[in-house]
Amino acid sequence: MINRKSSKLVLILKGTANRSRFFTFPAYICSMTFDVKTIGIAGAGSMGSGIAQVCAQAGFQVVLYDISSEMLTKAEKGIAAGFQFLVSKAKLTSKEQEAALGRITFSNQISSLKAELIIEAVIEKLEVKHQFFTEVAAINPPTTILASNTSSIPITQIAAKIPNPERFLGIHFFNPAPVMKLVEIIKGESTSDEVSDFCFDLISGMGKTCVIAKDAPGFIVNRVARHYYVEGLKLLEENVASLEDIDGLMENFGFKMGPFRLMDLIGVDTNLSVTKSMYQLFHFDSKFRPNRIQQQKVDAGKFGRKSGEGFYRYE
Ligand SMILES: NC(=O)c1ccc[n+]([C@@H]2O[C@H](COP(=O)([O-])OP(=O)(O)OC[C@H]3O[C@@H](n4cnc5c(N)ncnc54)[C@H](O)[C@@H]3O)[C@@H](O)[C@H]2O)c1
Repeated sequence: MINRKSSKLVLILKGTANRSRFFTFPAYICSMTFDVKTIGIAGAGSMGSGIAQVCAQAGFQVVLYDISSEMLTKAEKGIAAGFQFLVSKAKLTSKEQEAALGRITFSNQISSLKAELIIEAVIEKLEVKHQFFTEVAAINPPTTILASNTSSIPITQIAAKIPNPERFLGIHFFNPAPVMKLVEIIKGESTSDEVSDFCFDLISGMGKTCVIAKDAPGFIVNRVARHYYVEGLKLLEENVASLEDIDGLMENFGFKMGPFRLMDLIGVDTNLSVTKSMYQLFHFDSKFRPNRIQQQKVDAGKFGRKSGEGFYRYE
């Protein structure tokens, strides 16, 4: 466990005003101190609950917010089970487990989301993310760093409607967040170097391996991985092999999970939203075309592990 109580950085924030007819110059330079003690997380689903676990384990106070009380209850149980697993593996003592759980506040009130860093992990819809950040920016100071865990929506598009977009970036954890080491740090058009560098260090301090990614559709991993799902679905659609065979073959080939088992873990709905978003961002390139088999699963509420059934059934 990293016993990090707060993380500090002094940022020079640039304001703008017209000092000449031709150019816009910084009108004021004020010194902002990033002193992260509390991390707010929005969305208590697969990702938000995992990110909350990681942040609390690293010693930060955490506020986990969701519009759904049911999801918050589920997240609380899931996080407790996650810590319990670490205790059973002797990676955490019972005392540390208790302390880490005690650092998390669960809330269905957005007004409780006051923090120095806020990581959003709500559903993959631009309008929902815009609405969320508009509300959260209004109740936090401009020094609060705002981050999205989006898998595919351009950071620049989300930041466009947010005041002080230089403090906005992508912090893209992978699923399950407590297990997966990799985190993509995505700089939008306006993200300041100070903010991305600060978050790089902060998240690295949580034991993660960070990479800086450009704000391109799907960033790095999802762009490459998209074809794994899309081609797997095409094979199934063309009756080339059963989904069990496709998964089994890919796993025997060395991949940890076949495409269907992986979609079930990610969330068939979330995975489809990401494919749709990338299809659009790549100007309807057929390489990224969403598949009707996946759409049908989503229409039927078969979202994968989280709903008890996806391509496979779960007890
Ligand atoms: N699932 C993955 O493997 C994965 C990996 C990396 C990134 N992501 C990204 O993380 C984000 C969340 O994905 P997920 O898989 O955790 O989704 P999820 O469906 O498991 O959870 C989404 C949560 O957001 C909540 N929510 C919806 N609207 C809200 C709002 N307005 N305010 C607060 N909460 C709201 C829902 O109640 C739900 O609990 C998405 O942007 C997704 O692209 C997902």
